[in-house]
Amino acid sequence: MKTVSPFLELADDAPRVRVWFDGQPLDLPAGANLAAALLAAGVQVFRHTPVSGAARAPFCMMGACFECLVETGGRVQQACMLEVEDGMRIARPYDAEANDAAL
Ligand code: FES
Repeated sequence: MKTVSPFLELADDAPRVRVWFDGQPLDLPAGANLAAALLAAGVQVFRHTPVSGAARAPFCMMGACFECLVETGGRVQQACMLEVEDGMRIARPYDAEANDAAL
C-alpha cells in the first residue's frame, strides 16, 4: 500500500501503531494528524465523490473543505480532525454504495 509520497513526516522517532486503510495495514506515528500521516504513507485517494466518483484528498487540513472524509469508528469524519490511534480501521466512505449502484 505504501507508495512514493511527496509528503514527509516531521519526526521519524515517533512510536508506530498499526492501522488499516481499506484493509491494508499501515504503521503510522501514534497521535499524528491522521490525514497528514496517511498522505506521508502514500495514500493519495481518501474518498470518491458520491455523484461523479471523482477521487478526492485533503486540501485545507483545517476542517473546512471536507475533502478528507474517511469512515472510521462507524462514522464518516474528517481525517484532518483526527489523531492516529492504534487499531483504527479506516475506509473510503461511499465506495460500497457506488459499487452497489454500478451493479
Ligand atoms: S482537509 Fe479540508 S476538512 Fe480535512
